[in-house]
Amino acid sequence: TENILTMTDLPLGTIDKILTNAQEFAHTPYWFEKKNVFAANLFFEPSTRTKLSFEAAEKKLGLEVLNFEADTSSVKKGETLYDTVKTIESLGADVVVIRHETDRYFDELAGKINIPMINGGDGCGHHPTQSLLDLLTIKQEFQSFIDLNIVVAGDVRHSRVARSNIEALERLGANVFVSGPEEWMEGELRSRYIPMDEAAEMADVMMMLRIQHERHAVQMVAGVEEFHQKYGLTVKRERLMKPGSIIMHPAPVNRNVEIADELVECKRSRIFKQMKNGVAVRMAVLDHVLQLTKGGYKK
Ligand code: CP
Repeated sequence: TENILTMTDLPLGTIDKILTNAQEFAHTPYWFEKKNVFAANLFFEPSTRTKLSFEAAEKKLGLEVLNFEADTSSVKKGETLYDTVKTIESLGADVVVIRHETDRYFDELAGKINIPMINGGDGCGHHPTQSLLDLLTIKQEFQSFIDLNIVVAGDVRHSRVARSNIEALERLGANVFVSGPEEWMEGELRSRYIPMDEAAEMADVMMMLRIQHERHAVQMVAGVEEFHQKYGLTVKRERLMKPGSIIMHPAPVNRNVEIADELVECKRSRIFKQMKNGVAVRMAVLDHVLQLTKGGYKK
């Protein structure tokens, strides 16, 4: 059984295969015949993009979708994560997608669940399918990752998207920098830090992040306007960016906090392109773990 839990665990060859297949899915309107294959989506944390794009990907692949609502499930009666996932497996799911607020929730499941598990985000840990859709978006734009200057800016410390992307982009040969409040940068992040104006000038990709209020132990942001001016992608900073450089954001976006309202859909923005790519990438990830299209595609 192959799981997709972190980018760290994914060999470069697998990343390359998933991106190549995702590009194929993105460009060709494949629609697969219905199969007797069941996908369960277990979201214990809020989600719009990841949950719905997995559902869209599953339906496009011809899978049957089992949705799960944490708030009306037996988790409310104290059932554990392990017992919940084991139940889903026993009911006949062939693959399970899980988002959970606990970092590395999957460690307690590994080796005990006999269907592929795909991580849809774990606490401040990892978000591999977001990273893969970001990689696809960058590849479509620049063809290669070698020596690209990528700046991940904002609440880097609490971001599972940042963690997954920094690790993967570094391995793929990009130069990865971080920006935002310097006091939020700890350990390894410190060596990557550059101030926001410098970041805007040198970036090929400006990857903006939302402030993860839900993960801050204390209120760390005094004023939204002050944060925007000091650390956000303002209209003024966008003007410093090089021709051909792009703006990305995993979304949800807090307009006029980490990014100016006018920039969300500006010419450089690939934010909605990222979301579109999310469906194709999740099709490729599901195909990879379930080996659905091994025998060839049926249009
Ligand atoms: N980017 C992302 O993971 O969005 P959702 O939280 O809406 O799924």
